[in-house]
Amino acid sequence: MIRLAICVRREDAEVALAELLAFAPRGVEEVDRGERVEYAVYGAPGELPGLPDLKAAVGPALVEVVTSEVADDVGERWRDFHRPVELGRGAARLHVRAPWHPAPPPGIRDVVIDPGQAFGTGAHDTTRLCLELLLELEPGGAITDVGCGSGVLAIAAAKLGFGPVSGLDHERESVAATKANATANGVTVAVARHDLLHDGPAPGAPIVMANLLRPLLLQVARDGFAGGSVPRILIASGLLAREAGEVAAAFAASMGLRETERRLGGEWAALLLRQ
Ligand SMILES: C[S@@+](CC[C@H](N)C(=O)[O-])C[C@H]1O[C@@H](n2cnc3c(N)ncnc32)[C@H](O)[C@@H]1O
Repeated sequence: MIRLAICVRREDAEVALAELLAFAPRGVEEVDRGERVEYAVYGAPGELPGLPDLKAAVGPALVEVVTSEVADDVGERWRDFHRPVELGRGAARLHVRAPWHPAPPPGIRDVVIDPGQAFGTGAHDTTRLCLELLLELEPGGAITDVGCGSGVLAIAAAKLGFGPVSGLDHERESVAATKANATANGVTVAVARHDLLHDGPAPGAPIVMANLLRPLLLQVARDGFAGGSVPRILIASGLLAREAGEVAAAFAASMGLRETERRLGGEWAALLLRQ
């Protein structure tokens, strides 16, 4: 098993991490190195990104790349850097955890996500911000998760009382992970493979969650949803704070949605947009 360590300047770390997560949806190990931050990913030889890909993704933030061979206990190592996440207050409390973490006390909704090949353990700011905005909505009604990854948002929505719940992703692994995680959580999520770049507008719903990066959100704003439907509520995440205004404006122009809330976490932002 290879450990690929990517060292970036601290001031560029958030942006570099966003790019690296595209290569490592299961998550990235983070090591504080003072002026620098080291991100490490694990994989078999041939599975990991090459230097040209890393340079293209991380650009001038990249300071150093070091590969080393480690024992094949990567399954165990992943466990060390997954932490449960607890969100919300009162009756609307949500606990997102891996299967090996203890269950929360009764009364707190428990979402169990097995960190496999798909993005979304709940711990990343972009996911957490989406969940925070979801927790503020009156539960109920059809909801869809565009770019569902592990299915964490869709499963949380189902547990909170929204339904029917659907999701889509262009990755086969994400579709499989969402199905498996939904089953493990005892909820129903209708999940399909759909590539927003090649398969046309996504199927819509009255409530849409979209934790995608800026370019894809702008594409969704341009393409709209199938049949020209406009969501009543759209949660848009995966944005750097400085990108939020542009994305809000794009949805306002194309669908008439107005921004009613903007949440910030680290360098990230999520938007709550309503008709
Ligand atoms: C940031 S992750 C969000 C995962 C999960 N919804 C969460 O909030 O943690 C973005 C997801 O969008 C998916 N995605 C990226 N490009 C896509 C495309 N062109 N069409 C559909 N899904 C895409 C990725 O596979 C990934 O699962």
